Amino acid sequence: MNVIVAADYEDLSAITAKIIAEKVRKNPRIVLGLATGSTPLGTYNELVEAYQQKQLDFSQVSSLNLDEYIGLDPDHPQSYHVFMKKHLFNHINIDEKNTFIPDGLAANLHEECRRYEEIISQIGPPDLQLLGIGENGHIGFNEPGTPFNSFTHIVDLAASTREANARFFHSFEEVPNQAITMGIGSILRSSEILLLASGKRKAAAIKRLLKGETDEQFPASVLSEHPNVTLIVDEDAYQET
Ligand code: F6R
Repeated sequence: MNVIVAADYEDLSAITAKIIAEKVRKNPRIVLGLATGSTPLGTYNELVEAYQQKQLDFSQVSSLNLDEYIGLDPDHPQSYHVFMKKHLFNHINIDEKNTFIPDGLAANLHEECRRYEEIISQIGPPDLQLLGIGENGHIGFNEPGTPFNSFTHIVDLAASTREANARFFHSFEEVPNQAITMGIGSILRSSEILLLASGKRKAAAIKRLLKGETDEQFPASVLSEHPNVTLIVDEDAYQET
């Protein structure tokens, strides 16, 4: 695993956006795997700025998002559909037809998982996958114990994940109990992975990750088996290593 230590969150976002921008310029038809949560927000801001300064063109880019809450309408303010529009898609010239996010309101959720995995096969797998990491080591919404060979599936969210995400909702109770997530096997099919971690809250997870011991109880540890992963971490998240 390559490791880039950024001075702070701003630096981490600038470094990540620069890597993504270079890839998009090199391959205008690139397939990007995208994440939500707080960590990639700065990166998305930088990409929007580069687009506004006419340094980037997303017209032929496709994207595959990692996950979506079950039971939230795509128009719900906390859905990942709205998140992606608000923070990225509405501000760049990506074609909405080329953006894919699981449907958490599908009538048949198992069928939706199968359909999404088929989309990943047809459109992707991602040339470049952006990942955040949970304090418990989750990637996507693959919680501890998820088999490393899993594909898109329904997941019961860990209480700690719901607590961590409650900041986006009015209350903890409002945070959905379940989500659809790309599996660990789906994620590992990406050609290249950028894993981002910022802040002291992530320091213990990064320390465990860098020990390099693979353990299904710590999903991110599987990344040491992928040939092209770069961890971009700020000093706060790197401090305990
Ligand atoms: C989001 C996702 C999650 C987050 C992780 C970290 O699509 O898949 O794995 O990346 O929960 O979240 P933040 O960045 O909010 O700390």
